[in-house]
Amino acid sequence: MADKTILVTGGLGYIGAHTVVELIQAGHQVHIVDDLSNTEEVVLDRIKEITGVKPAFTLLDLRDGVAVEALFSSQFFDGVIHFAASKSVGESSTDPLLYYDNNISGLVNLIASMKKHGVSNIVFSSSCTVYGQPEVLPVTEQTPIQPAESPYGNTKKIGEDILRDSSRAYENINAIALRYFNPIGAHSSSLIGERPKGIPNNLMPYLMQVATGEREMLSVFGNDYDTPDGTAVRDYIHVVDLAKAHVIAVNRQLEKKQKTAYEYFNLGSGSGFSVLEIIQSFEKINGVKVNYQIADRRDGDIEKIYADNTYATEELGWTAQLSLDDMMSSAWNWQLKLKG
Ligand code: NAD
Ligand code: WQD
Repeated sequence: MADKTILVTGGLGYIGAHTVVELIQAGHQVHIVDDLSNTEEVVLDRIKEITGVKPAFTLLDLRDGVAVEALFSSQFFDGVIHFAASKSVGESSTDPLLYYDNNISGLVNLIASMKKHGVSNIVFSSSCTVYGQPEVLPVTEQTPIQPAESPYGNTKKIGEDILRDSSRAYENINAIALRYFNPIGAHSSSLIGERPKGIPNNLMPYLMQVATGEREMLSVFGNDYDTPDGTAVRDYIHVVDLAKAHVIAVNRQLEKKQKTAYEYFNLGSGSGFSVLEIIQSFEKINGVKVNYQIADRRDGDIEKIYADNTYATEELGWTAQLSLDDMMSSAWNWQLKLKG
């Protein structure tokens, strides 16, 4: 299934841009909307450098329902991938209304226009945060939902609820929620990657800014967890593997292969790595030193989580192909290019 037009919201962001590249390389036409709140328009040129195609782009805030409606009135989309959201867990606690407004009203506006214009298919960026700290690992899709206590996590749960309920109520709406674990790494071209604004909250961007000397020291948040080396364990997934899963999900919808109108899948590598293992792996593959110190646990952090990918493998025919070394080296090559 190729040559369909896919609307990609947040398509100039980190995961969105990687997915746009994969969609174009799979033969689809892409129309991006982004309000540039967490990215820059130059990413469009980077996508063109990689693929030879500059996708259509509309500068638009999805909270503006009139603008969303105008876009859907101007052209037909075969499918939608909805990445656009605010994503900082910490900021969501200090400004919850921003998160409920942006992450929920954007989705509601989209579904309303899809419904009105007969656009059936939506793929949604969910997160392993919907599982909070599960009692049993690895996490399957049957693991109970109990979002980590942040407004951000809550918006992902509510987003899933909205999609489930809409797909039940409105005949033409089919939805797939993809629950990402921890996406890291960058495209092999080093032309696109993660570009956090301000002081990074997440491990990889902070670690890399320490490695370049931009920041003095990485704080390892807690070494007294019930894990092999005491530091917290996560399931890191290469962003390119994640991007490819979106193409598979979109094609599943276009080929009408969904088994139910609402489906959800875990997308992780299936392996857990501790913070210290990440540091060691980064140092080894890239031959650089990362200064770190052990610090207190970070409020709200969970101890360990990693995915069971069986369902995604069986149903989507998808498994993560790229290794932790690939994640570490591609992230570092991108960081070096960013520094110029
Ligand atoms: P990102 O911030 O790089 O990308 C999001 C993009 O959406 C940005 O380009 C931003 O400018 C745009 N945007 C935000 N609000 C918008 C609005 N109202 N209208 C139009 N555009 C808007 O984030 P990302 O890491 O690429 O994440 C993409 C999606 O995946 C998000 O929904 C996020 O919650 C989810 N997710 C991310 C992670 C992660 O660790 N990166 C993990 C799980 C889920
Ligand atoms: C990874 C590990 C930290 C920074 C977040 C969101 C989650 C999802 C993915 C969107 C943890 C440790 C970190 C640092 C550290 N996003 N760490 N020092 O917290 O697993 O997940 O991103 O949906 O919802 O919560 O990712 O990269 O922040 O942390 O020791 O300076 O690294 O404690 O164990 P996290 P992260």
